[in-house]
Amino acid sequence: MSKKDPSKFNFAIFLLLLFVLAASFFLVHKGVGMAASLPEVYDLKKAEGIYLKWCAQCHGVKGKGDGVNSTRDMAINPRDHTDALFMVTRTDEQFKEVVSDGGAGVAKSPLMPPWSATLTEEEIDSLIGYLRKLCDCEFEGVVSHGKLRRVDTDFR
Ligand code: HEC
Repeated sequence: MSKKDPSKFNFAIFLLLLFVLAASFFLVHKGVGMAASLPEVYDLKKAEGIYLKWCAQCHGVKGKGDGVNSTRDMAINPRDHTDALFMVTRTDEQFKEVVSDGGAGVAKSPLMPPWSATLTEEEIDSLIGYLRKLCDCEFEGVVSHGKLRRVDTDFR
């Protein structure tokens, strides 16, 4: 076989094209540029334990924003995770971002701590599923970048 065998050359191009095609399908499927990728199934049992241990102190055992550390003098109340009207305006990726980086990381209240140093990514992922269970809702397609903060002076 000579070095310049044209069929060999074509095969190399074919392989290259195949690779580019596969790579682009993969990237499109993964959603390039999205802040975070999330699993398709969440471990809710595990999440409940984590939520009760780390989140309930502020967000409340039932997620209503009325945990023991949620007091009147908190400038911004912890979010009521059962408030579906608000929760449908946020994507799972947005939740993942705020839980990982904290309120300060997304220009919200720094009273919401960042959790990426305390919880693993898998644990944070499971919490997102748990948040959806609490509100019994899904993202409904209209993203709110507004603060929509609930500051209730008669909170407690
Ligand atoms: C020290 C109290 C505190 C703890 C503990 C806490 N949070 Fe928060 N969280 C807040 C406050 C305050 C806000 C409201 C932030 C705002 O609206 O600016 C908030 C807001 C949120 C929001 C809504 C963000 C948005 O888009 O408006 C989510 C989701 C959330 N917390 C999840 C969690 C999870 C999950 C945990 C446990 C891993 C947790 N929080 C633990 C205080 C807390």
